[in-house]
Amino acid sequence: MQKSEALEYWKKIVCYEIYPSSFQDANGDGFGDLKGIANRLDYLESLGVGCIWMTPVYASPMRDNGYDVSDFYKINPQYGTMEDMDELLAKAREHHIVVMMDLVFNHVSKEHPWFLESQKSRDNSKSDWFIWKDPKPDGSPPNNWRGIFGGSAWTWNAARGQYYLHTFGDFQPDLNWENPEVRKALYDIANFWIGKGVGAFRIDAIVYIKKPKDFADGKPDASDGMVLIHDMTANTDGILDFLREFKTNVWKNKNVFTVAEANGIRPEELKNWVGENGVFDMLFEFNHLQGGDIWFKAKKLSMLDIKMAIVRSQMATAENGWYPIFWENHDKPRSISANFSNAADPVLAGKALLTLLLTLRGTPFVYQGEEIGMTNVNWDSIDAYNELNSRSQYELARREGFGADEAIRFVQAFSRDNARTPMQWDSSANAGFTCGKPWLALNENYPQINVQKEEGDPESVLAWFRRLSKFREKSEVLLNGDFQILLADDERIFAYKRTFRGKSLTILVNFSEADAFYNKSLLGDATLLFSNYGDAKKSHLHPLEANIFSADG
Ligand code: GLC
Repeated sequence: MQKSEALEYWKKIVCYEIYPSSFQDANGDGFGDLKGIANRLDYLESLGVGCIWMTPVYASPMRDNGYDVSDFYKINPQYGTMEDMDELLAKAREHHIVVMMDLVFNHVSKEHPWFLESQKSRDNSKSDWFIWKDPKPDGSPPNNWRGIFGGSAWTWNAARGQYYLHTFGDFQPDLNWENPEVRKALYDIANFWIGKGVGAFRIDAIVYIKKPKDFADGKPDASDGMVLIHDMTANTDGILDFLREFKTNVWKNKNVFTVAEANGIRPEELKNWVGENGVFDMLFEFNHLQGGDIWFKAKKLSMLDIKMAIVRSQMATAENGWYPIFWENHDKPRSISANFSNAADPVLAGKALLTLLLTLRGTPFVYQGEEIGMTNVNWDSIDAYNELNSRSQYELARREGFGADEAIRFVQAFSRDNARTPMQWDSSANAGFTCGKPWLALNENYPQINVQKEEGDPESVLAWFRRLSKFREKSEVLLNGDFQILLADDERIFAYKRTFRGKSLTILVNFSEADAFYNKSLLGDATLLFSNYGDAKKSHLHPLEANIFSADG
């Protein structure tokens, strides 16, 4: 039950995720940059965006596109300079937009000076800043954990004669959070950015920072005799002590809000993680707080599974906490392609998904291009893909005996490049993203799907996004209202009611590509506010139809 209408500001805004390499290039080198982002603030403000989350822009060798930081106090020259960053912060303020930085604190690049020092010997000022272990007597890695990007989670270092641990790639050594000097160095970094005017943090891979006491072998989960590292290290006992200290030293009593990437947190643990006594304000939990991983198409989820997963996260955060609503991010495929068949009408599908994004209870996180209905790329050769995980998953699939066709279909469905192709601004060469050679190929549908074209079309996905985001901003019911699921067992319709102080909104989305019917008594004398079909019948939903009805009571 919502206590009062005096919501914190971050519960009322729409957040917009920017993938800086692909948003807007201002200097023609083919990579997006900070100046490019600053040049697009008018557009972002016009969308009703109150916060932009930029994936990491720190100095980095870019092996994992910035999630491998070599200096947290410097801007990657590819993105610009510290002056550009200061200018972006100042301009964003003028547009009433808060800047959210990404804190990558589970690991650094192996080119970070901390690691360069640490690897030299067992006796140096940073020797205990990473997780080093001796080999097993036969020289093999300390245990059978597999890194998230494939291969052993341990890499041998000859100078030290030891292995180091990495949750992700071998170029991303994990920091040793047990060492208080490490923790202090990280808090100093976050405070430096708060000092610069950053108003929010997205905190990367934070559930992995506390390793279990025992580094023994885990029970193998695949034919390679290995076990996924995150099954062994996520959300380990004692992690909350670190996180409470982190909060106390960084954002407690400051006007800064936080959203942590925290997979595996269960509803009953939420109270320690978010809300009044929690460590963060929101969590990106890809499993929807045990509702299910809605992106994992391989699990062959039905529409009902996806709906119920989302309902689980709505219910789990009803009493405590607040949910960041999202369909897309830089690690996931495009939502239209992930949820609907190729034959589906992408404009209707885009509007249906955005209706849910902007009317569920929580803070919507829209990902660049989602507001215009961008789709997956479906490249048919592995050579077209840039992203390291796509390539390693492809090789793994081939090694496991899958044919080239099957392996590429898997990559097409999951590749993180689907979301990373350049933003589609207009129909000119390279979609107005760059006047140089884009670092990653554009989606060839940009002449049809782009901002400029959609600006001029009242029936576009973009026009729909604007209407709903403006409406949400002023709707007490959407901001404050309770969430109640309707037609829970319906396999096509995703329907719910939001209620606040005697007023309600009923949202009905046909989450399928076939007609759907319901009993019109569900709506009583409620009046239609929005429909992506223009008009609406109480009792029948066309394929992918999305309606919002309003009523007193
Ligand atoms: C997070 C990021 C992802 C990155 C990984 C390692 O999951 O979202 O892009 O590869 O962390 O930092």
